[in-house]
Amino acid sequence: MDWGMENRLAQIINPKTGHTVMLAVDHGYFQGPTSGLEEPGKTIAPLLPYADALMPTRGVLRECVDPHTQTTMVLRVSGGNSMARVDELSDEVITTTIEDAICLNAAAVAVSVYVGSPHQKQTLQNLSDVVNQAIKYGMPVLAVTAVGKDLVRDDRYLSLSCRIAAELGANMVKTYYCEGFENVVRGCPVPIVMAGGKKIPEKDALTLTLNAIQGGAKGVDMGRNIFRSEAPVAMIKAVRTIVHDKASVDEAFDVFNSEKVK
Ligand code: R5P
Repeated sequence: MDWGMENRLAQIINPKTGHTVMLAVDHGYFQGPTSGLEEPGKTIAPLLPYADALMPTRGVLRECVDPHTQTTMVLRVSGGNSMARVDELSDEVITTTIEDAICLNAAAVAVSVYVGSPHQKQTLQNLSDVVNQAIKYGMPVLAVTAVGKDLVRDDRYLSLSCRIAAELGANMVKTYYCEGFENVVRGCPVPIVMAGGKKIPEKDALTLTLNAIQGGAKGVDMGRNIFRSEAPVAMIKAVRTIVHDKASVDEAFDVFNSEKVK
C-alpha cells in the first residue's frame, strides 16, 4: 500500500487496537438542523477529544470545528439531496473536490452509494469517480451504504452493497448492523464500520456496538446514538470501551452511568 494511504488509514483505525470510533455529524447535508445538531459546534466540541475520527461536511468543518484539534477528519463529499425531496434521496452528486479535502487536511473522504435505488448507477459512478481522483493522492475513500425507504436492510442486501462498494475501490465501507452481519463482513474485502442508525436506548446501542465488533466490524461511525444521548460524552466513552478495550455491554453501561453523573 502507498505510504500516504497507509498512514491516513492508520489515523482512522488505531493500529494498536485495530479498531476505530468515528463520530458521524454529517446528517445536516440532507436533513438540515436535525435534532442534536442544531448548533453543530456546541455538539461537536465536547465529543471531539473522544473520537478517533470526525465525519463532517466541509461547511461544518470550516465553520464549527476547532482547527487546532488533533482528531482526524473524514470528509463527506457527496450530497445534493434533501429531506424536502424524500422521493429523490438517492439523487446525489459529488459536492467537494479532492483538492479541497486535501486543503482541509482530511484523512479520508466519504461518498454514499444507493444500491437498488433509482439513482444506483449515478451514485456508483460518484464513488468510482472519487476513487479515481483520491487514489492519485493516497487518499482513502469510505463508501456509505445508504438505504432507500423501500429496501430491506438484511444481510443479503447489505452484503451486495458493501461488496459492490469494495469492488469499485472503496478502502472502507460504512453500513448498518443486521442479522447475519458476519456474512456482510466476510463478503467485503475492506474494513467495515457500523452506522448506529436511529436513536435507541443507550444499553441497546451498546449491545449493537458489541454485536458489530463481534461480527467483525473494525469499529463504528456513530452519530445519533451518541449526540442524541442524554449524556453524549458518557456515551462515546462507553462506546470506546467496547470498541477499543473489549468491554462487555454491562461494563460499558457502567461506564456510561458513572460518567453521566460527572
Ligand atoms: C447519513 O446521514 C450519514 O452518513 C450518517 O453519518 C450515518 O447515518 C451515521 O449516523 P447514525 O449513527 O446517526 O446512523
